[in-house]
Amino acid sequence: VAVRAEAGAGGGINPAIRKEEDKVVDTVLIGELAKPLTAYCRCWRSGTFPLCDGAHVKHNKATGDNVGPLLVKK
Ligand code: FES
Repeated sequence: VAVRAEAGAGGGINPAIRKEEDKVVDTVLIGELAKPLTAYCRCWRSGTFPLCDGAHVKHNKATGDNVGPLLVKK
């Protein structure tokens, strides 16, 4: 299986989000979701991380990748 890592310095996936942290972890309580459907970023390029802001569209067009959000329904 070929794995393509083109993002961050050093070959990591995360190019810029919360790099000062040893590990980026977020917890969401499903019962506290504000909307019936919430999209969470999996491309590591969202300006509203951990929420998806659509940045994956630009990334996919630029790289030929096919990443998209995790949709969580309340
Ligand atoms: Fe990252 Fe949508 S912005 S998955």
